[in-house]
Parts: sequence; structure tokens; C-alpha cells
Amino acid sequence: MAKIEAARGRIIEDSRGEKTIEIDLLSRGREFKSSVPSGKSRGKFEAKPIAPEKALESLERVMRVAGKKNFETQREFDDFLINLDGTPDKSSLGANLILALSISFARLAAAEENLPLYEFLRRQSAGASSSFPRLLFNLINGGVHVSASDSPLPFQEYLAVPKTSSPEAALKTGFEFIETLKGVLAPRGEADRFGDEGGFVVSGLDPELGLELLDEARRVYGDRVDLSIDAAASSLWDARESVYKWRSQTWTGEELLKIYEWIIKRYGLLSIEDPFDEERMEEWETLSRERRGVWIIGDDLTATNVERMKKAAQARAANGVIIKPNQIGTVSETIAAVNLARQFDWKVVVSHRSGETDDDFIADLAYGIGADGLKSGSPLQGERLVKYKRLVQIEKSLKQEVNK
Ligand code: PGA
Ligand code: ZN
Repeated sequence: MAKIEAARGRIIEDSRGEKTIEIDLLSRGREFKSSVPSGKSRGKFEAKPIAPEKALESLERVMRVAGKKNFETQREFDDFLINLDGTPDKSSLGANLILALSISFARLAAAEENLPLYEFLRRQSAGASSSFPRLLFNLINGGVHVSASDSPLPFQEYLAVPKTSSPEAALKTGFEFIETLKGVLAPRGEADRFGDEGGFVVSGLDPELGLELLDEARRVYGDRVDLSIDAAASSLWDARESVYKWRSQTWTGEELLKIYEWIIKRYGLLSIEDPFDEERMEEWETLSRERRGVWIIGDDLTATNVERMKKAAQARAANGVIIKPNQIGTVSETIAAVNLARQFDWKVVVSHRSGETDDDFIADLAYGIGADGLKSGSPLQGERLVKYKRLVQIEKSLKQEVNK
């Protein structure tokens, strides 16, 4: 049973230098801190954050009621927040405030039970395995994560994914691979510009170029990484003209499909995230039907929302899902989304947002629920690295347990 004695909130800056909130919950002389990220290529089905100043005002409203209560479980606390908010998209208290409170509460409840956070989360998740996620490093940034004056590539993320299930080995491979990639980009004069998630910026209009460069680095480094993309195609979709569009380039859904078929074959892709717009499930279905071995992952499509996930499963649109706690707003709803994904036999990739903080909650979440992947940008940026390092720390602590 957890009793919140007091709460404090403040405004901090995220990795983009934008304002976000940090919350402490206080209980029995201890404080449980958390802060929340924000996305730029946000899907229309996501829960809605509110201005940080307003969110801090909401905190007072929450504490007037919460300060008098005891909460038995995470679910009970999250339901209390959901009911107090009373809107379908959490826009009254703010999805940012609700998530910060929910995560701080998870830390508090784990401490009450004397459990590591990942173990507390595992116990709420149905049938979680105890393996580590693969690490998906976003090494070439494009799309809306790069300033338009740098003429970024059309797809938002070009990723390298070390072929190991050990976070420590994966992180080492990641850093070595980044050095090799630098060597490939330097002669192009493109080894020193970075996008929002700490990956390199390459200019151009050809969506395949990012993969070509990663593949060139892979030929030098050795075949120890898989390649993936996040097309973030909702950002490319132009509903008025019914085409996908990036600066002077346009593609029909069929043309994009052809590009995906080609790059899957050529680079042996592990995964493609958001290949089409979030409302065009019939296009998704065509790709998923033909490419069963590739992870076809919904992000804007599914929005960590069980209703959206059911729709996508019914349309056979995807075989994997991105899990972002701030798309839905509470820890229990995030875990409910994971449990549903498991029922569908989908791959589960836990993810950060493009505007991040030093909070490493998603690392405990990814390990706790037995995710297939953790996607947290390039390890060159501090706010991303803390997530990867937390997994390495968990891995080391488990080895020590075994050796005791
Ligand atoms: P976002 O992008 O955090 O800017 O929405 C991340 C993603 O699309 O995976
Ligand atoms: Zn995405």
C-alpha cells in the first residue's frame, strides 16, 4: 500500500531545449522523481500533453484529492488519475502530468515492495520473458527531426541494430559502428551535423540513401548489425493531394510499397516502422501480407492504445508495435497495450520520444516486460545513452546475483 505524502513539480528543459515537467512524489522521507519526454512526429491518436505551467497547476488539483488517499495498486492510482481527468485524451490534467505521476508512483510502489523497478513492472505484465531487448540505434536522422534548412532525407530514422541480446555488447558495437559510419560520412562533409535524436544528418531526397550509407559502414565494420527504418509516413502523407510528399518529391502508396520491397531485399531489413499513414491500413496490409519475416511496426498507427491496436490487428496491418508510455499516459495502460500485443503474437519495441530527458524508466520497462527491442536514438546523446546504460546496469547486477 502506498501513501503519497506530498508532491513537488518543476519545469526543466528536454534534449531539444524545450520545456517539460519533472515531478517528485514524497513518501516516508523518500522522493521518487520522474520527468516526461515529448514527440515531434506525434500521431493523431495520442493522449494530449498540456503546457508545462498548466500541468503544474493541475498537480495541485491532483494532490488536493490524492493526499487524503491510500492506493493499493498501480492500477488503482492510474484509474484515479484517469477518472479525475475525465477526458478521453487526458487533456484536462494533461497526459504529461498524468504520466509523470504514474511513473513516480511505480517507483514508489516498487520501493515499498523492495523490488527493482523492472521486477515490479514484470509482475504486472502477462508472461514476460526475462531476456534483454535488442537495441535499435537511430544513427541517421531525417524527416521532421532535422531542421528543413539542412535538406534532410525523407525517412525519419535509419537504424543499426547490433545482432546480440547483451546490452553491454550491443552498446560497444553501437559506438564502434558509429566510428566506422563517421569514416563513411566524413568525405561527404556530413560527419558533424546531428538531428534531434543525436544521429547524423545527411542531405538528399532519395529515401534509400541513409540505408546505402549504413550498409557501406557495415561492409567495412562487418556483418554484426541489422538495419531498420522508421519512415514516419504520417508526416509525409498529404491528405488533400492523396500522395506521400517530401519537399519536391512525391510518391503514391504503391510507389512507396515498391521502395519497401526493394530495400527489404537489398539490405535484409529487420524492421520497418510506420511505412504508411496512420489511417491507411489497407496499404499496411499489403506490405504485412507479403513480408511476414520483417517486423512491420505500428507507431502513429497504434499509439500504444488498445483500441487502435485491435483495429490494426483486425486489418492485419502490422506484426509489431511501438510502445511509448506518453502516447497513452499511464503505466498500467502501457502494460495493457503490451499484454494485448503478446496476445496478437506481435513484436514489441519500447521507445523514447524525440524530445527526451534523463529519465530512464523505459529501460526498466523494456526489460521488465521482455520487449523484443528498445529504441532510444543515438547513444552519442546523453538523454539517450542513460536508457542504454540502465540496461547494461541491470545486466551487470543480474550477473552478480548469479555469481554470488
Ligand atoms: P517522435 O518520433 O518522438 O518525434 O514522435 C519518434 C518516432 O516516430 O518513433
Ligand atoms: Zn516512429
